[in-house]
Formats: sequence, structure tokens, C-alpha cells
Amino acid sequence: MTWVLEGLALVAVLVGWCLYKKKINEEEREKNSGIPRGTSGWPFIGETLDFIASGYSSRPVSFMEKRKSLYGKVFKTHLLGRPIIVSTDSDVNKVVLQNHGNIFIPYYPKSVTELLGKSSILQMNGTMQKRVHALIGGFLRSPQLKARITKDIENSVKLSLSTWKHKHPVYVQQETKNITFEVLVRVLMSIGPSGDLNFLKREYEEFIKGLICLPINFPGTRLYKSLKAKERLLKMVRRVVEERKVALEKTDDKGLANDAVDVLLRDTSESNDTQQHLPLDFISGNIIEMMIPGEDSVPMVMTLAVKFLSDSPVALKRLVEENMELKSHKAQSCDEYAWTDYMSLPFTQNVINETLRMANIINAVWRKALKDVEIKGYLIPKGWCVLASFSSVHMDEENYENPFQFDPWRWEKTGAAINSNNFTPFGGGQRLCPGLELSRLEISIFLHHLVTTYRWVAEEDDILNFPTVKMKQKLPITIMPMDK
Ligand code: HEM
Ligand SMILES: *[C@@H]1O[C@H](CO)[C@@H](O)[C@H](O)[C@H]1NC(C)=O
Ligand SMILES: *[C@@H]1O[C@H](CO)[C@@H](O)[C@H](O)[C@H]1NC(C)=O
Ligand SMILES: *[C@@H]1O[C@H](CO)[C@@H](O)[C@H](O)[C@H]1NC(C)=O
Ligand SMILES: *[C@@H]1O[C@H](CO)[C@@H](O)[C@H](O)[C@H]1NC(C)=O
Repeated sequence: MTWVLEGLALVAVLVGWCLYKKKINEEEREKNSGIPRGTSGWPFIGETLDFIASGYSSRPVSFMEKRKSLYGKVFKTHLLGRPIIVSTDSDVNKVVLQNHGNIFIPYYPKSVTELLGKSSILQMNGTMQKRVHALIGGFLRSPQLKARITKDIENSVKLSLSTWKHKHPVYVQQETKNITFEVLVRVLMSIGPSGDLNFLKREYEEFIKGLICLPINFPGTRLYKSLKAKERLLKMVRRVVEERKVALEKTDDKGLANDAVDVLLRDTSESNDTQQHLPLDFISGNIIEMMIPGEDSVPMVMTLAVKFLSDSPVALKRLVEENMELKSHKAQSCDEYAWTDYMSLPFTQNVINETLRMANIINAVWRKALKDVEIKGYLIPKGWCVLASFSSVHMDEENYENPFQFDPWRWEKTGAAINSNNFTPFGGGQRLCPGLELSRLEISIFLHHLVTTYRWVAEEDDILNFPTVKMKQKLPITIMPMDK
């Protein structure tokens, strides 16, 4: 018997040796090819475990920091079963985001691609992405929309705040989600508080649970349940889109679009002579997929702003002063707020920038290279993935003094001098977030009414960074009326 074991042991040693040799050879070859330095870690799993562990820690950038100090700002690693080049360099990130020549396409884990569908704006590439991006961006950024939606945002915020005094404690993360979901659904498809809204909310929550899960699809699995929820969502949204199409055909009013459904229904830009509209299934799918980047991000920035302000009484005091001034000014003149009133408070805007910098709700974007590219002397080979890390840039001492400290005043000191490549919470270039201005407006309105209505004390709570940014306890706070 023993010779069998000895034989097996020998084989194992030989196989191990060969694998080792192969790896060394590969690394030798890559060393001279311009591929950034770095290690591939274990066979198959690579450095995934270390990556996830640092995601769970209180310093999610530690994975990047460690490798940056060993190999430089751009390095090679191996995550989720494939080789990846990680960039913590803002110039390299910029080139990836600009994406001249359409070399990079979005890359997501398999569970995400399954749930998104092929024609989602998040996965599209080329002219179709540009078309939908321009349509949605043009609508969301228009001053007319901001003027109109300001009243709706105010109403949602005030209604929610009015219920806070009966709640002990108030879970900020939950409440802000309620506010922003209402706004989002209104902007996308003009649905106000109703049975439809509740249905959308319930099914959407079921749907996104599957975004980060094992990509296994059969009855009972997480992915299966999420895909089922998506079917129900699609059915409902498709109904709304059809109704709107009928209504649209009855009028020849070509004024401002009411919502994203309108924008997509009306568009005929690509084929002008045949008057070809976007297919209804395409529109319904994209409306649902546009909820993904819009749904979780805005309430988390609001929640983290409350968290950072609770820990920084000096900044909170300054914020209250600035907003009370606007409030009393408005009370005296009996004027309604215009959207520009909210956006014109400089310290409030600095608080929002500082929150976005530290929160890193979307901490990186993932891309795949369609051909060999060289950026700043680093080679990204065809077929490899690139992870452009925003959080590493936002938390880099070279870019921000005391990066882990919440300091809204830093935006005053440097002001416009802050290199815009070093601040990319909304991405940039070809896929710059079309919801950027709407998000900032929502957050500004929320902060204004919150700090001019209540004072609060926050309970101990921690920020979790993996798989997405969340508060461990949903940030419970106890509120008190404002003492004048
Ligand atoms: C504070 C809140 C938000 C943050 C931090 C944020 C961040 C981002 C980032 C970083 C990207 C780029 C992704 C990439 O390059 O692959 C993006 C894209 C996108 N965002 Fe936002 N976003 C926010 C709010 C919103 C809202 C409210 C909406 C919708 C109303 C929205 C809709 C989109 C869409 C449709 C895209 C895809 C654009 C494209 O690929 O062409 N986002 N967002
Ligand atoms: C680009 O998108 C289209 C669908 O819009 C898809 O068929 C094609 O495979 C994509 N190209 C790549 C390289 O993924
Ligand atoms: C969300 O808001 C609606 C009213 O707009 C309210 O009926 C509902 O109870 C709220 N949900 C939570 C969780 O606060
Ligand atoms: C749009 O119209 C212009 C001029 O009328 C024509 O040259 C062009 O080919 C048309 N584009 C499409 C996609 O049909
Ligand atoms: C805050 O961030 C926005 C981009 O989101 C930028 O346009 C603005 O200049 C920043 N504020 C300051 C004071 O730098």
C-alpha cells in the first residue's frame, strides 16, 4: 500500500513543481512585456479572498494600498477567476473613462450580466449606448426638469420628515430610501404614491438581491427568484409604456418630456427618414435597469452625510447656520424655493462633495479591453480587465491632506484648484453619470430641510463597505425639535 501513497505524493510534488515553473515562466515573460507588476496569487481564486477581506474591513482601500506600495500605482492581480489590472492612478483612470476609440467595454460579474439583459444601458457599447446616454442625460440635466421636480422632492422630503418625530429611533438609511425611490420612479415613469409604486418597490427589492450572488439559475436559487421578480417588473412597466404610447399618439404636443419613458418613446433620432422608434421591450427593460444606479446611491450619500455630520459638530454647526439663513430669508419674502436656491449654498455643496469623496458609493468601475492598449507606459493586453479604482484616488494622501478626515473646508481652500481627475464619484467621460445633477439637488434639498427642522443624536453605527456601502444598523438617530 505504501508505495501507492508514495507514488501519489511524488506525482503531487511533480505537478506542483510544474505549476510553479509555469507560473514563474509566465511572470518572467510578463516582466519584460510592459504588463504592470503584481502577483496572481493562488491558482484560480487568485487574490480574491484578500480583496474581499479588505472590502469587509473598516479600510476597504487597504488591498489597493498594500499593492500600490509594492508595485506602483498600476498593478496586476487576479480576481474572480481572471487576470485584472488595477489602476489607482487618476491619469490612467481618466483614459479608461474617456474611452476614445471604444476600446473598453463594461465588465460585470456573471450574476449581474444575467440580471441586466443584453440591451441595458449599463452593458451596451458603441452608438446605442451613446444614443440612450445622450437622451437620458439631456432630460435629467435640463433646467426644466429640475425646476419641476424640486417641488416633488420637497414634498417627499417634508412628508417623510413629518413622520420622524413619531419614530424612536429613526432609521436614516431606510427613510432616505423611501424618499429617493419615490423621486426616481416619478422621474422615470411619472408614477406617484400608489399601489403601483408599492408593487414596484417590493419587486425591485426582490430583483436587486440577486445582483451579487452565485450565478446559478434553477428554481429556489437567489438568481432564479430575482429573474422572476424582473419578469413581474417588466410586465408592469411594459403596461405603463404601452399606455403612454397610446396617449402620446393622441396628442401632437411635442413640449418637454414628462419623464424618461416619454423621452425614449419620442426618440427617432437614429433613423430619421423611416421614423423608427425604439422597441417597447427595449424601453421597458432600460427603465428598470436605470433604477439600478439610481436607487441605492442617493439615499446612501444622504445617510453618510448624516453620519459624517453627527461625528463632526463643527461642520454641522456651519451647515445649520448657512441653511437657517436661507430658510429665514425665504420665510420673510414668502417665496417658494427655486432649485437654484438649494444649489447656491457653498458650504452645503462642500459638505456634499466631501461626503461623496469619502463615501465612495461606487468605488470603482470595471472594464474589459477589446485590444492591446498602452497607457502611461503600462500595457493592458487584449481581453484583460481593468479596475479603475476611484476610492484609492479619493483616499490618497498625495491628493487630499488627511484623507480619512471629514473636512468640508478643504473644498474652500483648494476650490477649483482640485484636479477634477482626482474627484470622480460620478465617473467620467463616455459614461459620466447622467443623474449627477439630479442627485446633488435631491441631497441638497434633503439636507436643507433636515438641518432646519430637527436636531439629532446618532447612535453608534459602522459603515460596511462590502459588497456595497451600507450602515450596519441602518443608522438609528433620535431626533429633537430645533431650538431656535
Ligand atoms: C449619488 C448618487 C449617484 C452616484 C454616486 C452615481 C455614480 C455613477 C457612476 C460612477 C457611474 C458610471 C458607471 C460606469 O462608468 O460604468 C454612473 C452611471 C450611471 N448613472 Fe449614476 N450615480 C448616482 C445617481 C444616479 C441617479 C439618481 C440616476 C438616475 C436617475 C443615475 C443613473 C445612471 C445611469 C443611467 C448610468 C449609466 C450611464 C452610461 O453607462 O451611459 N445615477 N453613476
Ligand atoms: C456591443 O453591444 C452589442 C449589443 O448592443 C453586442 O451585441 C456586442 O456583442 C457588444 N460588443 C462586445 C464586444 O461585447
Ligand atoms: C414610505 O413612505 C410612504 C408614504 O410616502 C409611507 O406610507 C411608508 O410607510 C413609508 N415607508 C417606510 C418604510 O417608512
Ligand atoms: C438622416 O437624414 C440625412 C439627410 O436627410 C441623411 O443623409 C441620413 O442618411 C439620414 N440618416 C439615417 C440614419 O437614415
Ligand atoms: C464639487 O464637485 C462638483 C462635481 O461633482 C464640482 O463641479 C465642484 O467644482 C466641486 N466643488 C468644489 C468647491 O470644488
